Amino acid sequence: MKLLSRKVTCNSHGQNSSYFLGWQEYEKNPYDENKNPTGIIQMGLAENQLSFDLLELWLAKNPDAAGFKKDGESLFRELALFQDYNGLPAFKKALVEFMAEIRGNKVTFDENKIVLTAGATSANETLMFCLANPGEAFLVPTPYYPGFDRDLKWRTGVEIVPIQCTSFNDFQITSSALEQAYKEAQKRNRTVKGVLVTNPSNPLGTTMTRSELNLLVNFISEKEIHLISDEIYSGTVFGSPEFVSIIEVLKDRKCEDIEVYNRVHIVYSLSKDLGLPGFRVGAIYSNDDMVVAAATKMSSFGLVSSQTQYLLSEMLSDKKFTKNYIMENQKRLKLRHKKLVSGLESAGISCLKSNASLFCWVDMRHLLTSTTFEAEMELWKQIVYDVKLNISPGSSCHCTEPGWFRVCFANMSEKTLNLAMERLKVFVQSMNGSNNLSQYQSTKNSRRKSLTKWVFRLSFHDRQLEER
Ligand SMILES: Cc1ncc(COP(=O)(O)O)c(C=O)c1O
Repeated sequence: MKLLSRKVTCNSHGQNSSYFLGWQEYEKNPYDENKNPTGIIQMGLAENQLSFDLLELWLAKNPDAAGFKKDGESLFRELALFQDYNGLPAFKKALVEFMAEIRGNKVTFDENKIVLTAGATSANETLMFCLANPGEAFLVPTPYYPGFDRDLKWRTGVEIVPIQCTSFNDFQITSSALEQAYKEAQKRNRTVKGVLVTNPSNPLGTTMTRSELNLLVNFISEKEIHLISDEIYSGTVFGSPEFVSIIEVLKDRKCEDIEVYNRVHIVYSLSKDLGLPGFRVGAIYSNDDMVVAAATKMSSFGLVSSQTQYLLSEMLSDKKFTKNYIMENQKRLKLRHKKLVSGLESAGISCLKSNASLFCWVDMRHLLTSTTFEAEMELWKQIVYDVKLNISPGSSCHCTEPGWFRVCFANMSEKTLNLAMERLKVFVQSMNGSNNLSQYQSTKNSRRKSLTKWVFRLSFHDRQLEER
């Protein structure tokens, strides 16, 4: 241990949260309809598996793209040697056009202002390296994607100061919450370098309103700080109100020629909208030439492979395909979302009204034995070990109110979702005393006991760190 760096031995990667722990538990006992029908159903993974057939159909119709051929000629050697970290121009062009199409072509993106990265994970971290020094802070509204603790903080040394949002106004950002977070950072002796939001939100599944976006632009203008808008879920918006990108707000406010425009940066990825997290395709879009130049140099540490860029440049420049894909994918997400909401309803559980993403923000406050995070953890363990559903507790997303959970709906078949809802319904009935409780009485095995200690120890430790 002594020979290792502090980075390796410190805990700031955030991967000891129950969010990641749930994945580990799922891996030990994964549900399979035939091989393991009583296993854990994975509902803690924001994957989009609903439109794979559309991608596969395109691949079958366009074998040259995956075979690295163009006009009958092999591109193998060219692609194998390609190493320009600026990326393939054809791919950057196809990507910015796809981003504009998702935004209803109300805005355009300049391919010279985009930097390719290995997913949004790398894009967010790269922006931290570009915009903040170790010890400086970014304000992030709660609840937020648990991976941010790793992506924004761990290697960069940047701090996250939460903007506390609550169910009182459906977790929307307010002016007073922004001011309070700013003051809190000052109290902690942290220089605030910016605000980072996720629009549509992970874990809320909602799009930000125009007034929230305007509030943010006003705030960063006044404080002279940056704004990062992680728009990784922009293509998943399946219901009204429609998605408004920060870039659209800047355009409407005619900010293109004023300085604040250089301080707004967009993060994007094909992990959710195209359902390709394994391909590792992300991007930073920035109007600041210095940021673009530095981020491009840094992208050497996490490039997108040339064969991936080539394949996707062919796919995304097929406008007939992209138009149909965007529409059909949203239609399928809408249906699936409806299934989850009605399944939860029949179990007596409601969720935040949402219009986007691959999950719902589910309200289980009425199932807690007390209004505490310990009770939330107890309920979570019951749901993972007894009901056998891996969902993500709100505390892992830094939610300030116990009893909220993120539940994913697009990474499984409809049949599996139905089974999950059936399990949940029986569980809630058993909690209400109208069914056989013994079904859910815990098997107090040693693994679960040690997990209990571990989770409590870690959440206590995390809270101590946050309070510091
Ligand atoms: C808000 C948000 N940002 C970034 C990421 C990371 O995405 P990627 O797979 O592109 O690295 C995720 C993944 O879940 C996410 O939800």
